[in-house]
Amino acid sequence: MELLHQKIINEGKVLSDHVLKVDAFLNHQIDPQLMVEVGKEFARRFQDDKITKVLTIESSGIAPGLMAALELGVPVVFARKRKSLTLVNDLLTASVHSFTKNETNEISVSQKFLEPTDNVLIIDDFLANGQAAIGLAEIVEKAGATTAGIGIVIEKSFQDGGKLLRDKGFKVESLARIQSLQDGKVTFLEEVGVGR
Ligand code: G4P
Repeated sequence: MELLHQKIINEGKVLSDHVLKVDAFLNHQIDPQLMVEVGKEFARRFQDDKITKVLTIESSGIAPGLMAALELGVPVVFARKRKSLTLVNDLLTASVHSFTKNETNEISVSQKFLEPTDNVLIIDDFLANGQAAIGLAEIVEKAGATTAGIGIVIEKSFQDGGKLLRDKGFKVESLARIQSLQDGKVTFLEEVGVGR
């Protein structure tokens, strides 16, 4: 997705060989116009998948998840990382370990917002090791619903998550796939001839 690639090049900061800072348009400050385009692109890529609901995770998944849901004409639900005061009963939960942060969170979604008939599109901002997406898919499974696909804004292809999810048979669509962050430079996957 050209607009996203430009944003990453112009406003992203390579912090290390593994971490890309995108707080100027995705993780902290959010570019609404970019999010509109992100939503349209997700809707285009999943238009034939009969999506009935978008599932994402707080906090940075909410903006792209909301815009995808708007374009697809379905509701969006976000998994919580902390227990809510009012959300206490009938929770579907999964344990998500972050290798990046070396911490484990129990994520939760109220059972009442996922029906067995739902065909769910999982959306997240980053795909690194894939643990958040796997946790969300586990919650979908616990609801008796179906994961129709996984949409990612930025995939770091040099980490294991993309392969892990595709090997499990999930349809994964990433709007930007980063091959490398070495030497302070962002290289996208298609630039090295592997295709999108
Ligand atoms: P995984 O789900 O793919 O296994 O990812 P991982 O545990 O490694 O990532 C944990 C958190 O770090 C996630 O955000 C993820 O979006 C973020 N993250 C991973 N790699 C990068 C990166 O290169 N750049 C940036 N900016 N973030 C990265 P989170 O803790 O859930 O934060 P938030 O959604 O509340 O903002």
